Amino acid sequence: MYLGIDLGTSAVKAIVIDDNQHVVSESQSDVKQMPSQPPKSEQEPQMWISAVGSALDKMHHDQPAILPSVRSIGLSGHMHGAVLVDKKADILRPCIMWDDGRSTKECMELANLADFEGITGNLIMAGFTAPKLRWVKKNEPELFAKTCHVLLPKDYLRLWLTGELASDMSDASGTLWMDIANRDWSDELLKACDLDRSHMPHLVEGIDSTGHLRRTHCQRWGMRKDTIVVGGAGDNAAAACGMGIVDGSALISLGTSGVVFAPTKQFRPHADRGVHAFCHAVPDMWHQMGVILSAASCLDWFSRMTLQSPKDLLSLVKNQPLEPTNVIFLPFLTGNRTPYNNPSLRASFTHLSADAELSDMMLAVLQGVAFALHDCLLSLQEAGTDIVEAFVVGGGSQSKTWMQIIANTTDINLLLAPKGRYGSALGAARLAAAGCHQSRIQSTMYRPPVETVIEPEKNLKNAYADAYDRFTQQCEWERARWALDGTSI
Ligand code: XUL
Repeated sequence: MYLGIDLGTSAVKAIVIDDNQHVVSESQSDVKQMPSQPPKSEQEPQMWISAVGSALDKMHHDQPAILPSVRSIGLSGHMHGAVLVDKKADILRPCIMWDDGRSTKECMELANLADFEGITGNLIMAGFTAPKLRWVKKNEPELFAKTCHVLLPKDYLRLWLTGELASDMSDASGTLWMDIANRDWSDELLKACDLDRSHMPHLVEGIDSTGHLRRTHCQRWGMRKDTIVVGGAGDNAAAACGMGIVDGSALISLGTSGVVFAPTKQFRPHADRGVHAFCHAVPDMWHQMGVILSAASCLDWFSRMTLQSPKDLLSLVKNQPLEPTNVIFLPFLTGNRTPYNNPSLRASFTHLSADAELSDMMLAVLQGVAFALHDCLLSLQEAGTDIVEAFVVGGGSQSKTWMQIIANTTDINLLLAPKGRYGSALGAARLAAAGCHQSRIQSTMYRPPVETVIEPEKNLKNAYADAYDRFTQQCEWERARWALDGTSI
């Protein structure tokens, strides 16, 4: 059996699959979060350890035979976070998370220090790890001086589980310290941040072993001493492995963040319009991604604002014809990556008139996220990747209404798998399984059956195209306003 552990922004999920890829056990535990204070976004790694511990304790308690049968473990996690540890591997400060937007100035400074864009094929973005380290060096020099290793969030879990310092290619791509075409750290880029290879974990492919589970953990969960932990993947590449998106097709993820993901057989960067071009979690493959920082989290935010549950809010629009509303919502609660690369942009409602109802605002929220995902899709298209259909995963995919709005906006068929766990935790478990059977990557990463196809409503095509144009104009106006304020990059 094979265990996948996904460290999500709000919860840890653990899943065990057998040799036939049947899910035999799952468990989940929430991650205790720090209050949201954009542009700052931090989490205590100790909370991740507690959440993983309690998810696995629960699994072991409920099904005591499962964990002792596990042969390998795969890890997945939110990307780009900076976990700083000292020479004793003790944590120096909270993790600076993927949606932290404080390092705008540092992005500009790095651009003058080395050819980040040329070497990585990616824009320097505040969410990536390299500018975060420069921010620490400037703002917390004493901590920077004590930093012995910089780890990505799931790799800190690995350190706890195995005692080893390692990372996989897909997650490490998001640091901005990698020569992504050559799947190696770049000495030049590390030097530009006053770091070197000794600060970095060693790099492996997602299916390669990085070490054995520590004895204390084996004892805690009755696990085998020869249980290996494989490289694993960043959460989006892991979700792609879970959905069998390894050498073609596309994936839209509607979780806290929103992602349009497409595998590429070669490294195909297109830094303009904020396309992320990273290694895939399987050897010799790469991928392109468009990323928005707030997707399903916009619905949670609106739910908090209106004191209504997401379910009640969704039911306000469920039974209406899905004509787009004139109300515009820009979903930039924590800034934007693709296509604007601007962590300073913020969300707004506009074009509200006296007869606007809560249902219009709700529709505008769903529409705004759909339009921002469409921006990502168009960016990938400009990067040479034509997407004609996409699987959709993540909490937001459970709303048929939202799916229909996204299909109408993007004008592509959206595919939903049967209910079940097809997310990053399954992808991590599949990488663990492939790690035990090195030759079985393609057969392990197969696609689930399609249960539902959501087709665009052709009669609404023009209405959605017009609404998307109005959204784009509003985005341009917002960007111009920020540029005038001098706060935009
Ligand atoms: C990807 C990204 C997010 C996080 C959180 O570049 O920043 O998708 O991985 O899920």
